[in-house]
Amino acid sequence: MVKTALVCRQCGYRSFQWVGRCPGCSAWDSFSEVVPAAKGAGPAPVPINNVDIDSHSVLSTGLAEFDRVLGGEGLVKGSVVLLAGEPGVGKSTLVLQAAAGLELREQRVGLFCGEESLAQVATRAHRLGGPRAAKISPATDVNEIAAALSQFDVAFVDSVQTLFDPEVSGNAGSLAQVRSGAAKLATAAKAANTALVLVGHVTKDGEVAGPRTLEHLVDAVLLFDGDRGHSIRTLRGIKNRYGPTGELGVFEMLPSGLRQVADASELFLQHRQPGIPGSVVACVIEGRRPVAVELQTLVVANNSPAPRRVAQGVELSRLVMMLAILQKWTNVPIKNGDVYAAVAGGLRAAEPGVDLALALAIAGSSMNLRMPSEMAAVGELGLSGDIRPVPGIQNRIKELGRLGFTCVVGPTSASNMPGVEVLGLTRIDLAIDVLEPIPAMSPS
Ligand code: TYD
Ligand code: MG
Repeated sequence: MVKTALVCRQCGYRSFQWVGRCPGCSAWDSFSEVVPAAKGAGPAPVPINNVDIDSHSVLSTGLAEFDRVLGGEGLVKGSVVLLAGEPGVGKSTLVLQAAAGLELREQRVGLFCGEESLAQVATRAHRLGGPRAAKISPATDVNEIAAALSQFDVAFVDSVQTLFDPEVSGNAGSLAQVRSGAAKLATAAKAANTALVLVGHVTKDGEVAGPRTLEHLVDAVLLFDGDRGHSIRTLRGIKNRYGPTGELGVFEMLPSGLRQVADASELFLQHRQPGIPGSVVACVIEGRRPVAVELQTLVVANNSPAPRRVAQGVELSRLVMMLAILQKWTNVPIKNGDVYAAVAGGLRAAEPGVDLALALAIAGSSMNLRMPSEMAAVGELGLSGDIRPVPGIQNRIKELGRLGFTCVVGPTSASNMPGVEVLGLTRIDLAIDVLEPIPAMSPS
């Protein structure tokens, strides 16, 4: 006998016995029976050598920043990519620009835009300078979209939250609809050998209506991110079956659309004013790229027993750790001061390579000393105040050299690069000695 399962129509929770209230999502009377398909013979196994590899060809989107995050060269035919991001970050814009690039390379492109009217999308496409010939459809019915996929080399669905399958209960956007819709489309895309890009909205904490629950269904998950107040947008691969994750694509949102930023370091340092206490430049590694960033801190006297610690772009735990290290191993007066730390430009620099720069920035702000303008800092700090090497340190030093820095404070194991001298030091208290007083203003 085939055992039937009960499945929650809201969240997909499975149970083999009757339950009144779903343990998964707390919905009442939400279970229906699902009879498993009888087991058939299935496709016969084939020798690995006989598999048609050409069907895995890669399609460039024409956007190098997008292609790199996709795994190097672009969208893999028959693969499913989830493009996730907060509402308003620029997902639909990125989709249109990628569609334009694919179209130029003579790919058949389909845009399923349940979220906006056809006129809205067409107006925006016109303003962005393409695409022109891509087919556009207002369809939101999963079965209609699935049936149409074979007409296209690449299909974009904007967004998964508008998908609706009449065979599944729940409203469009409910977990059950989003999940089942994405699964159906993924199966259809693989069968049609169409590259499928699903756009999904997430909130700040990465939660809500589903995209995160789709991760296992898709081949790659890309997160499009950026601060409201900044024009910089970053694209990161957080899962990829076809290439390395951790690659970073950088764009700038302009009135004319997304501009690709090939020289990320220059962008993140563009507004830097050298010689300000509390500002120190470091270099992080994003995927395979070194990116220079400016760490900014502000230490303000406050005798409150619970001083503020605010971190933007760096992890709060890292900031608190640097404060503890400074307090224990140096004479930097922090005590009850409020401490604010930020990465200029809106990049998130969540790695130990910024430790030394962050600690030096805090020390500088607190003692009103500045980092010499030709100096940067790279290295991790151990809890005992020791300066440690970080992966890719020579690449980081080289990048800082390219940007005009002639001296990098770092661990003793790092070596000089052409044009850049490394000041290798063992401990944070020694590194603080490189900070210099601000020259007195000359009377004018
Ligand atoms: P959009 O792509 O619609 O975001 P999402 O699909 O992620 O919700 O773009 C969001 C914002 O970007 C929009 O509010 C205005 C801005 N924008 C520009 O600044 N320049 C442009 O060329 C476009 C198309 C949008
Ligand atoms: Mg959109």
